[in-house]
Amino acid sequence: MKRLQFFATTVMGLEDIAAKEIENLIGAKPFQDVGRVIFDGEVSDIYLLNLKARTINKFFIQLCYSRFEKLDDIYKLSKRLDYEWIINSDQTFAVRTQRIGVHDFTSMDVSRVVGQAIIDSYMAATGRRLKVNLDNPDIEIYCLVRDNEFLIGVNTTGPSLHKRYYRIYNHPAALKPTIASAMLKIGGWPSTNSLIDPMCGGATIPIEAALESSNIPPGKCRNDFSFLKLKICSREEFENLRSEMLLGELKQSEKSFSIYAMEKFAKHIQGGIENAKKAEVYERICFQKGDATCAEDYPNVDFDLIVVNPPYGLRTSLKEGVSKLYELFLHAIRVRFPGATLVLITAASKRFKEAAEKAGLTVMNERKVWHGELLTSIFTCKV
Ligand SMILES: C[S@@+](CC[C@H](N)C(=O)[O-])C[C@H]1O[C@@H](n2cnc3c(N)ncnc32)[C@H](O)[C@@H]1O
Repeated sequence: MKRLQFFATTVMGLEDIAAKEIENLIGAKPFQDVGRVIFDGEVSDIYLLNLKARTINKFFIQLCYSRFEKLDDIYKLSKRLDYEWIINSDQTFAVRTQRIGVHDFTSMDVSRVVGQAIIDSYMAATGRRLKVNLDNPDIEIYCLVRDNEFLIGVNTTGPSLHKRYYRIYNHPAALKPTIASAMLKIGGWPSTNSLIDPMCGGATIPIEAALESSNIPPGKCRNDFSFLKLKICSREEFENLRSEMLLGELKQSEKSFSIYAMEKFAKHIQGGIENAKKAEVYERICFQKGDATCAEDYPNVDFDLIVVNPPYGLRTSLKEGVSKLYELFLHAIRVRFPGATLVLITAASKRFKEAAEKAGLTVMNERKVWHGELLTSIFTCKV
């Protein structure tokens, strides 16, 4: 089978971590772009990456990347492509477009023009007319128009991988699991032994930590992967690989990691426990109610890693409170865990830096990351 060109989308600011993860999983050396990485691989990589990747949103087979000047160029570029090896004649398709920059056409225009080019190309090759289904297509074609660049690919994932199956309790300020996983990688997990998230909310960070250290693939329970409908993919090969991977899960007794989750509010702790049970990692996490600003409330364990997503205090009334919270929290961990590594995400980066200075903490790195619409910083500090 020929080598395929892929691209994967990720959170803006995490491209290097996503590239490293892909390299570790399949040995490719991805090229980094904004919010995506580009690499090549084989059909079987589609199964493996979709099952195992923790920091990626979606994987696409890249069909074309080119510069263009006008909308008609997009039609011509798309019409030139072969779709027969991807789509069966009885399957439906839809084109979704993301457009960035100033153009004299809309993203709907791009979707319409590319849709027509696909129908025309398929008709010329096979004599069969493909059907469009915008609501529930078998095959989803993705187009990116960014200034004068045009990219077209086939979605192999379906709904984004950041939607983990275990999220049954939705914390109002939940962290994206892809970002939680990246923060853990930044902190060196799972090569460190003991970890605490002292403001755990719905427990995204501890659950991702437990999944990673137990070698449980995040795609373990998913059955809505788009690649299952792609002509070049085989459900049987995929299921064989998934069964093999599940044999690689570490059982509780095989290797022990200490993962602790602490939270001030009983309602969130309970939600976190429900999520952990759904993810089948409840036994691997110690949950306890406690206040992260009180040194005495922490468990009696020498943590070497603290990974946390504290409140950002975005509402005006909470801004002062958040500075105090950061100061007291940093003071508490300085007292209890000197020498540990802290990885923390916040949108209140100035307030965090001031609090870190007051507490005498060394900020080793600040990385800008888009958490949805919000520009946040992931700080790595020596406690
Ligand atoms: C941004 S949320 C964490 C969300 C979590 N990462 C998730 O994905 O569900 C921050 C959490 O910190 C908790 N919190 C605030 N102050 C705290 C304190 N002093 N001690 C412990 N938890 C605290 C809040 O109740 C809230 O659940």
